[in-house]
Amino acid sequence: MSSIRLDYGNLMAPLVEGGVDPEALSGELAERFADARGQVEASRAAGALGFLDLPHARETVASVKQLAEGYGQWFEDVVVLGIGGSGLGAKALKDALLGLYWNDLSDDEREHFPRLHVVDNPDPATMRGLLGRLDPARALFNVISKSGTTAETMAQYLVVRDVVERAVGAEHARGHFLFTTDPSKGVLRRIGEAEDIPMLPVPENVGGRFSVLSPVGLLPAAVCGIDVDALLAGAARMEERCRSERLQDNPAGLVATLLHLADTAWGRPIHVLMPYSDRLRSLALWFQQLWAESLGKGRTLQGEARPTGPTPVPALGATDQHSFLQLMMEGPHDKVVVFIEVENHGADTTIPNRHPEMPELSYLGGHSLGELINTERRATAEALRLEGRPNATLHLGAVTAETLGEVIMMLQVATVYAGALYGVDPLDQPGVELSKRLTYGLMGRAGAEPPAFPEDEGRWVV
Ligand code: PA5
Repeated sequence: MSSIRLDYGNLMAPLVEGGVDPEALSGELAERFADARGQVEASRAAGALGFLDLPHARETVASVKQLAEGYGQWFEDVVVLGIGGSGLGAKALKDALLGLYWNDLSDDEREHFPRLHVVDNPDPATMRGLLGRLDPARALFNVISKSGTTAETMAQYLVVRDVVERAVGAEHARGHFLFTTDPSKGVLRRIGEAEDIPMLPVPENVGGRFSVLSPVGLLPAAVCGIDVDALLAGAARMEERCRSERLQDNPAGLVATLLHLADTAWGRPIHVLMPYSDRLRSLALWFQQLWAESLGKGRTLQGEARPTGPTPVPALGATDQHSFLQLMMEGPHDKVVVFIEVENHGADTTIPNRHPEMPELSYLGGHSLGELINTERRATAEALRLEGRPNATLHLGAVTAETLGEVIMMLQVATVYAGALYGVDPLDQPGVELSKRLTYGLMGRAGAEPPAFPEDEGRWVV
């Protein structure tokens, strides 16, 4: 039994003005979904959607767990060096399942599992801060890059390698590295093979932003004691649920079909994912990349030039009620909000009734913080509905490895369904190549031309 439930009532007429006609769910929208589902099934059969099989990759999971156990005993700090799909998933798992203060806990509180750092940006101040805080002799660096050539990650590796060699000597340095990369190609793999550095594979048919359930996310999770079997069990269960032909039974189908409709028929291209849980903020950032890089395309599958794609916006409840909500309530009618509510936050605190004489405060007394944050989610969803602003809510019983596996798989499957509905390839990202090539040219990579910036001719600055 799945423990997550999607409430999409506030996208439906007559509950929300201009909402979906319930009959469309078994009529026009069902037909659109059937077509998208057919395309996704064809891609699956062609072996293009490797992420769907990850929950069943038993051998890989066994080697991840074996490596993680050894590393977990040895190292005090594990540092993931990886960007985009090679970093966001591990960060989402860490924050959701270990909590925001994991690295501040004592060894006993962490049950002697290592601290975990996910470093994506090559920001020199961050790198210096991190290296100043940990002992390289007690740290493992998990370098994650599917292509094995990404400038940010490889530069971080080169910097860290030097630091580790200085700390432990060149002959012991290799034991402080684990590479997670393509099974057969790339510079990282070449270095790993030449220096006999342990490596984990990212399956060929699994792209960066769909790789969180591969060793990319599993190793950092397992090394800190996260139950990766439960994570994958949740994902497997959801993958099965999202195969349903009937739109109303298919949560990924509903998310994709309704958000696509909101963009293309209602003029609502801004899709806000707003968990009411600090631990799920990183999940919203992970989703931002998944939705943006998969659906934001300049060409259709048929090669027609047609800029396409919704704009995902991560938000956080209740925090952004005091920042972003005003715009969502009264600004342009260009947004749809998907809330995430967590029924049981795992720790709750009763609010003391300290000032019974003050009605402005006494109403809070006796309630809990969990009740307050969840009530705010409910009130905000209703306020939006009353203003004719469509929204939906994903309900989680609790944030566990299993429910997180379900949510991750649901959003990944929704993304490939949405790709089919938009008529684009959700697995490529040709638009990110140009800035990479220009960076190579500017950094002096052999064979890459440095660009001539227009401002070199005449600057417009003040
Ligand atoms: O989803 C993707 O494919 C990208 O976001 C990549 O994950 C990102 O560019 C990093 O690439 P790599 O893993 O090859 O270093």
